[in-house]
Amino acid sequence: MTGLVVAMDGPSGSGKSSASRGVARALGLRYLDTGAMYRAITWWMLQRGVDLSDQEAIAVRALEPVLTIGTDPDAPSVAVDGTDAAGPIRTTEVTAAVSAVSAVPEVRRRLVAEQREIIGAGGIVVEGRDIGTVVAPDAPVKIYLTASADARALRRTAELAGTTVQAQKAAMARRDSLDSTRKADPLAMAADAVELDTTALNLDEVVAEILRLIKEKT
Ligand code: DC
Repeated sequence: MTGLVVAMDGPSGSGKSSASRGVARALGLRYLDTGAMYRAITWWMLQRGVDLSDQEAIAVRALEPVLTIGTDPDAPSVAVDGTDAAGPIRTTEVTAAVSAVSAVPEVRRRLVAEQREIIGAGGIVVEGRDIGTVVAPDAPVKIYLTASADARALRRTAELAGTTVQAQKAAMARRDSLDSTRKADPLAMAADAVELDTTALNLDEVVAEILRLIKEKT
């Protein structure tokens, strides 16, 4: 399993993070949350008052923040310029702004290079939107997780305080539409990925199915 790369893509709320961490834990692999990296850059830009409606303004500052991201599935961590950002990157403000920042090619180029460096010789489960298509196109195992819009909104509502299923459904539809229609590396299923619909499955069932697929493919 040391050289294995498992690419986990899919829209928000499809269960990628929990499933990826569960799989990494079960196989003793590292875990990389690439969404946390886009969120961390977004948080840094918001703090500095960068105009996020201006792609050029984002592009010129894309290389400035220094990111440090941990790969332990039991203790995911992310810091920006040495400051812990694990909490702030999950705020609704960052969530609402992250699609604009992640659509900028300069941001993607930088982060894809860093992600490939972290993946290195493998032994890792990597979750995101473009892992199977762009970041690790040679990954031997590619999973594309989906779930119905209602199931995804329900899961997110359970994780967040002070929101409603309707509000979450609308916010997720907006973000998924931005993420899958942007020009640079949009959310897409790789031709050789296996699609797994998690609507009617619990976390243990999702992890078990992915472990079965990994066994089959390796
Ligand atoms: O997985 P997440 O919800 O934390 O991701 C946050 C945003 O980051 C998502 O809306 C799109 C972007 N993203 C991306 O463009 N490419 C990735 N590989 C991962 C995330």
